[in-house]
Amino acid sequence: MRFYLTTAIDYVNNKPHLGTAYEKIAADIIARYKRLAGYDVHFVMGNDEHSQNVYRKARELSLDPVEYCNRMESEFRSVWSRLHISFDDFIRTTETRHRTAVQTLLERSRVAGDIYDGVYEGWYCISCEAFKQEKDLENGLCPIHLRKPEWIKEKNYFFRLSAYRDRLLQFYEDQPAFVVPESRRNEMLRLLEAGLEDISVSRAGQDWGIPVPFDPSSVVYVWYDALINYASAVGYGQNQALFDKWWPADLHLVGKDITRFHCVVWPAMLMSAGEAPPRQVFGHGWVLTKGQKLSKSLGNVLDPLDAADRFGPDPLRLYLAKEIVFGSDGDFTWDRFEEKYNVDLANNLGNLVNRVTAMAERYRKSQLQAVPPNEAMTIVAAGCVKEYREAMDRFSLDAACRQGFRLVDATNEYIAASEPWALAKRPDGQAALDEVLWTANEALRVAAILLGPVMPGSGDEILRRVGAPPGGERPLHLDRDSPFVRSGQRFLHRKDALWPRLEPPDDEIAVTTKETSVTDQPKPESAPQPVAPPAAPTPAPAASVDGRIGIDEFMKIDLRVARVTAAERVPNSKKLLKMTIDLGTEQRTIVAGIAEAYEADALVGRHVAIVANLKPAKLMGIESNGMVLAASPEGGKPILVAFDLPPSPGTRVR
Ligand code: MSP
Repeated sequence: MRFYLTTAIDYVNNKPHLGTAYEKIAADIIARYKRLAGYDVHFVMGNDEHSQNVYRKARELSLDPVEYCNRMESEFRSVWSRLHISFDDFIRTTETRHRTAVQTLLERSRVAGDIYDGVYEGWYCISCEAFKQEKDLENGLCPIHLRKPEWIKEKNYFFRLSAYRDRLLQFYEDQPAFVVPESRRNEMLRLLEAGLEDISVSRAGQDWGIPVPFDPSSVVYVWYDALINYASAVGYGQNQALFDKWWPADLHLVGKDITRFHCVVWPAMLMSAGEAPPRQVFGHGWVLTKGQKLSKSLGNVLDPLDAADRFGPDPLRLYLAKEIVFGSDGDFTWDRFEEKYNVDLANNLGNLVNRVTAMAERYRKSQLQAVPPNEAMTIVAAGCVKEYREAMDRFSLDAACRQGFRLVDATNEYIAASEPWALAKRPDGQAALDEVLWTANEALRVAAILLGPVMPGSGDEILRRVGAPPGGERPLHLDRDSPFVRSGQRFLHRKDALWPRLEPPDDEIAVTTKETSVTDQPKPESAPQPVAPPAAPTPAPAASVDGRIGIDEFMKIDLRVARVTAAERVPNSKKLLKMTIDLGTEQRTIVAGIAEAYEADALVGRHVAIVANLKPAKLMGIESNGMVLAASPEGGKPILVAFDLPPSPGTRVR
């Protein structure tokens, strides 16, 4: 099984930004997934160099354009390497192999009678590198670049695109999945149904480009040139065996702005030259920031390396894959990125890695022996793998990520429910403890495999920590991997947290008023309430004479269900536990005086009742935002308020 995958090739007049990187990251996830699923993958990316903007930029810098493109190649390659993009080949349109392919295809199309000469008179937008019709403009400007296009009149060679309308319509009917998502397919169909005009395929009076083989005074139009990269990268016009091996391409991944070139022009060019069209084109959406296009003039262009340098490439890759519905536009903001980092990585996945390796160390000296895994968890894991594969196979990257995290959540909940810390204390609990440890470790291993294409470095690191090093004892192909292994042993490695939680900078922590802050109390542990941090004195409610309050007074207290997503003892404190809780709409930190009654590990996954509208208070330097409800018997240990069934986090308690 082979899979030939390409991305758009980038203009090199600017370095990569978050939008262009998004496409490469998405393609890389698909390539890695296909490799994992046992395909022989050929993943090609590259640079589009024959653009007028590139030529101008080189001139501005007093550089020879090829020299400029060489420098940009290094720049692009280093960004892609930092983002862990695992392409197999990188093509540049100034390479000889590409020139040969372009000239071959153009010549074959001419022989087929599809190229003729004429004069083009009309608009041309250099930023789009596209000929524009009056109807494409808005107030005389290119609607994409908000610039007035140039009026040009020159001798051009034309490609008889109009002659391919019916064949293309037939092709769309025969190959209903040629263009995905469906919305883009419909767009293309509407375009075809409206009829096609012939297109220019050359530019006169320019040096920068590939000479037209039958008229060296003209160069090939940059889009006609660029599209052919997909064929030249696999030997078109020079290495037939290689071309036969990989063509037709299985997937071109491109932005929604350039689907027309890929879904109408490119298949017609290939049909004319007697070659098969690609099997599929996916038109992905745009990365926006605060709903706006990334643009230099708005000054909101985001550099993917800013995120990679701060957190490594994986959190960024995860954010882009999981938070953007693949095919639609999506938003990136630092706030949201950091929030998702804390929830998905610090609290959920990172916490699970920590728990599993810490428990294995504490209870089994980091050495686990295979035992039959827990049945319910085996079923959950098999379901996650199946749905993950289905999602990946339809390129639903966000849904695939969610399946990986479904397994992570289920494992955290399984650990909480089976209480290994309690089993460890019981002589008759040892077999059950072995089952929990092995099952949790296997579930984490499978989750690491599923998330590996999205977070390659982290996936490998987790596999090393759970004692199943990548490329180690057994292949990790999904099709051969029943979810859990039932024999052998694993040597685990406990290490530092993979993703330390990001805390807001100190000056952002709202120690709102002097009286709500208890930071300056020398012994916060001696605070009277076992559960809550000392609360701010609040004005006494207007109580009736017998001390009873009305419903209005009661309703001022915002009681909510929360799910504990992480918990740890507060260092140097006997009583205090720091918990991260999920309130459905937000994550919060709460410090509670329950450490003598509850183990931190036992709380993760548990549903608790909290007072959600309590003013923040600081305990042992940690800001607590809310209070967990517990019965507080005189002289006894606190007992958490519990629910019969776990309600959704955020549900109001009355
Ligand atoms: N050189 C052409 C493509 C030729 S392919 C034969 C080109 N280059 S580009 O540098 O402008 O864009 C490269 C890819 O990045 C395109 O698929 C484009 O849609 C994509 N993106 C550019 N900005 C983007 C976002 N803000 N968000 C997502 N993808 C975007 O077009």
